[in-house]
Amino acid sequence: MEILDGKKVSNQIKDEIAVEVAQMKERGEKVPHLAAVLVGNDGASLTYVGSKVRSCKKIGFESTLIHLPEETSESDLLTQVKALNENPDIDGYIVQLPLPKHIDEQKVLMAVDPDKDVDGFHPTNFGKMALDMESFIPATPYGIMELLRRYNVDTSGKHTVVIGRSHIVGRPISILMSQKGKAADSTVTITHSRTKDLKSITLQADIVVSALGVPDFLKADMVKEGVVIIDVGITRVPDESRERGYYITGDVDFDEVSPKASYITPVPGGVGPMTIAMLLKNTLLARERHHKMG
Ligand code: GUN
Repeated sequence: MEILDGKKVSNQIKDEIAVEVAQMKERGEKVPHLAAVLVGNDGASLTYVGSKVRSCKKIGFESTLIHLPEETSESDLLTQVKALNENPDIDGYIVQLPLPKHIDEQKVLMAVDPDKDVDGFHPTNFGKMALDMESFIPATPYGIMELLRRYNVDTSGKHTVVIGRSHIVGRPISILMSQKGKAADSTVTITHSRTKDLKSITLQADIVVSALGVPDFLKADMVKEGVVIIDVGITRVPDESRERGYYITGDVDFDEVSPKASYITPVPGGVGPMTIAMLLKNTLLARERHHKMG
């Protein structure tokens, strides 16, 4: 069993990006600038956004955090989005999800300029991705692909079973892994809450990508020997004995499943850090495209 070390690989990617940023500076070019919009005070979102902004600093990007109160109206948020679209200094930005219930998420994501949509959530980018055109690929699936590529995990002709059909992970990873190319060419089955007899399907999987958000959901008797496990679940489980009051765990019962796996991502330290690295990569790409366009 080999650990797919997302922390290590994400640091390599960040180092590679930092070298490119240093070269941009030497040439007297503007460095990439990422902005993040956060509405409200959801604990996990605060952690993610904080981590994204800190990573920007570390690699030499400029970053801006726009933290708006929970009661921000949809039209005020749309005004912010419009301002970011029109601000030439901003290369890319994200609107952290989930948004408060009174705001129409789809309306906000549709308002983001596709050229600055480094999350790859706008229908233009999602559509381009599905058609094998150049686009921004959503950071979490992009991170999974990059992790598989860098460990040379053989995916060609393999059966990949995706658990979960979210727009952020399940749906895009099912598209990407069925495309042609390295870390792809897979035969993909996408499963969800209405799937019947999930176990009979996961038992056929060479690769399982679990993006469900249910701690310890995937057990040893649900997978075959030699399976590759990608655990995208990040759940905070309350725990009074810890200083933070919780611990982080994935969808996979790691202790049970890891002895059967050929490769497995840990939680934390697997897919999570890769997501941030690929968001930075997308921001670098956005900067390069804007530079070329003048
Ligand atoms: N919420 C959970 N994952 C993500 C992500 O990748 N991007 C944004 N904007 N929000 C998220």
